[in-house]
Amino acid sequence: MAQFGKVQGGTMDLGNNERRMLRVMLSEPTHSWSLEQLLSATGWDDQVHVAGAGVGLEEAGLVEVLEERVNSVSLGGEGLLAASAGLLEARLWRWISEQQPDDRTMAALSSEFERHEAGPGVGLLKALGIRLEAGSMVAENEDSVTSAIEQRSAFIGSLVAGPVGQSELDSDMVSHFTSRKGLIVLEERVSRNWALTEVGSSVDVSTLKEVDLIGDVTPEMLQGEDWRDAIFKPFDVNAPAPTPSGGRPHPMQALIEMIRSVFLEMGFSEIEGDFVQSAGWNMDSLFIPQSHPARTMQDTFYLSEPEKVEVEQEYLDLWARVHEHGHDTGSRGWGVTFDQEEAKKALLRTHTTVNTVRHIAENPHEPCRVFGIGRVFRQESIDRTHLPEFYQIEGIIHESEANLPMLISTLKTFYSKMGFPDVRVRPAYFPYTEPSVEVDVMWRGKWLELGGSGIFRPEVTEPLGTEWPVCAWGLGLERLAMLILDLDDIRELYQPDLERLRRMPIL
Ligand code: PHE
Repeated sequence: MAQFGKVQGGTMDLGNNERRMLRVMLSEPTHSWSLEQLLSATGWDDQVHVAGAGVGLEEAGLVEVLEERVNSVSLGGEGLLAASAGLLEARLWRWISEQQPDDRTMAALSSEFERHEAGPGVGLLKALGIRLEAGSMVAENEDSVTSAIEQRSAFIGSLVAGPVGQSELDSDMVSHFTSRKGLIVLEERVSRNWALTEVGSSVDVSTLKEVDLIGDVTPEMLQGEDWRDAIFKPFDVNAPAPTPSGGRPHPMQALIEMIRSVFLEMGFSEIEGDFVQSAGWNMDSLFIPQSHPARTMQDTFYLSEPEKVEVEQEYLDLWARVHEHGHDTGSRGWGVTFDQEEAKKALLRTHTTVNTVRHIAENPHEPCRVFGIGRVFRQESIDRTHLPEFYQIEGIIHESEANLPMLISTLKTFYSKMGFPDVRVRPAYFPYTEPSVEVDVMWRGKWLELGGSGIFRPEVTEPLGTEWPVCAWGLGLERLAMLILDLDDIRELYQPDLERLRRMPIL
């Protein structure tokens, strides 16, 4: 069957944009056109037209799109600041040059510049050949310092107008600034050029008059008869087009809202609590022994302002008895002296379990099902799976018939509503629950651990004044987010990379 439009080199099927672009290109048939050249020669102000017409012409075999990957360099956040306020070393050097030689001291510099600048700044100056002699800063060769700094400033200045190809830049400067944080960003970009094919360059320009193509069928048009003979513009659903990007909630915020509505749907109410807590409520109330390794400064952020938080004496006494000998909980306690001062130490909460125990202490005789989604803090080194601040999804069922099957089915319901129908629990240990279980969900054929849970021990519930069992859980939010958003590095959740955030799925 004859397919006129698809005949290579045929021009009758071309749209007006394609005709215009081809006409322009035929004015210099052997030239390879850049985007900017095509925009100015066609008079278009949107690159989408070039890209779209280019695809059409390429499909017709008239044009070849040449793609080249180039590394480009642009200013990062710090670089933009440096471009307006000056590089740190330039500002320090200017200050030094303005001082009398005797006043060029470290002490004076530290009082003139903020600590976060003075520290790294001195490192930069040293690397430029500035030495400390009897407390004063002395340059081996002032002119060479000035010229090195000027060269760096000029480099930053050359990037102000926009990204520049790496090959056009001084490679020493590029590697210098790559080693400094946030000043420049290296990116791979695809640059496209358009050139006529042999068939394209033999097209007769006189066949390329723009024709009246009808793109939109309007009610007015349909009232007349003209549309019967009109030529309609074919749609190309594969043509490149800009992706409109409006505002959207941050994926983590969207996920929090989703979890919130799942728990609300399941009949839970939401509770909140403060970031700053006493060690007493965060740990002692949970029967975590005062000698527990997680309570050291290596693991927990203690505060110096305030250093202590007031805790009701009634609870301090109760926890002391429970920890020392079990009080009347039937437990033997930890058998060591309880330090009430230790319990008053202020810290950043290390888990949101502190919110649920406090909720029980405030409402010991009211049955409840509550949850909270909150940030917690632990001294962790940052890596692919750890952050020193992260979220927990906490909850309890506090009622006379609360039991383990109820806990497990609640967690199963929650995860299946979140899209993870396969949930299992394994025996675990927490100082405050018995039994204790770890919660895993199935993800791409593997079990992944997402949180801990259990029934609070009597050592926990008795001092809180309740007689009922409590099902409790604390689940990781970021881990769940990584599964849902398909990330393999937890840091991606919090990097302010708009492009990447825009590409994350909408929940
Ligand atoms: N608090 C525990 C954690 O931070 C989780 C947990 C909560 C375990 C409640 C049991 C009961 O990992």
